[in-house]
Amino acid sequence: MEALVKMNKVTKIYKKTNPGLRKNSVNNIAVDDISFAIARGEIFGLIGESGCGKTTLVNLMLGLIKPDRGEIVIDTVDITKLKSNREFLPIRKRMQAVFQNSSSSLNPQMTLKKIITEPLKNFHLPEQGVAEELLEDVGLSASWILRKPAQLSGGQRQRVSIARALALKPDFIILDEATSNLDVITSKQIIDLLKKLNDKYKMMMLFISHDIGVVDDFCHRKAIMKNGEILEIVKQFGPPENHHPYTQKLLQARLHI
Ligand SMILES: Nc1ncnc2c1ncn2[C@@H]1O[C@H](COP(=O)(O)OP(=O)(O)O)[C@@H](O)[C@H]1O
Ligand SMILES: [Mg+2]
Repeated sequence: MEALVKMNKVTKIYKKTNPGLRKNSVNNIAVDDISFAIARGEIFGLIGESGCGKTTLVNLMLGLIKPDRGEIVIDTVDITKLKSNREFLPIRKRMQAVFQNSSSSLNPQMTLKKIITEPLKNFHLPEQGVAEELLEDVGLSASWILRKPAQLSGGQRQRVSIARALALKPDFIILDEATSNLDVITSKQIIDLLKKLNDKYKMMMLFISHDIGVVDDFCHRKAIMKNGEILEIVKQFGPPENHHPYTQKLLQARLHI
């Protein structure tokens, strides 16, 4: 397995200081000594309850924040050692993220064509025909290029966010709770779409969810996260008793729905 992303003993601490009590500061270890690797082309699921540190992990990978300790190696480059945005840009271009609220942040004044090709414009790359092709890729019609976000449903808007993320043909896409705002059926449709896109473009996907049920047969491997730590990484969930007690709880809760 050739790793595209390697997290090596990564720790991120948010320093909480209570302005009233100068000495009483409590540190919040959002990501606690985490190590794992994700292979090129792999769909990797990360599951954990709200506040366990998933988005912090994403922000670390995207280079938006620096870890207190540890290495984050993308391909062969440890991005924690990069000094400037300029150095980071070629790597940044190869990773894209879609967030829970991505679709609500689509500029309402812009046409789908403009929205989808904006990343290409930023990198001075050719735009001809790309929006049409990507709209088809995400299961929308190429004839929609002049529509605006308000004319679409929530699920369709999230498809547009995915199309925009694909524009630069990234090596990997991070989907941080990207289907969490959608109803069960729409969410399932988006996951089927992601599977198809992974087949077609072979890009790595990091799919993040608080819901263990969503990732089961979709992700090649899944990691269970709690309190800033990864408790276990599995290919498949077996009988609950084979798992970490916390994973057991998640699996049992799912059985009872
Ligand atoms: N910018 C920040 N400043 C201080 N604390 C933060 C910040 N971002 C997140 N946290 C804290 O770090 C922990 C992990 O948050 P987050 O990574 O957003 O979790 P998740 O995405 O799993 O819900 C939480 O306790 C959260 O309150
Ligand atoms: Mg989050």
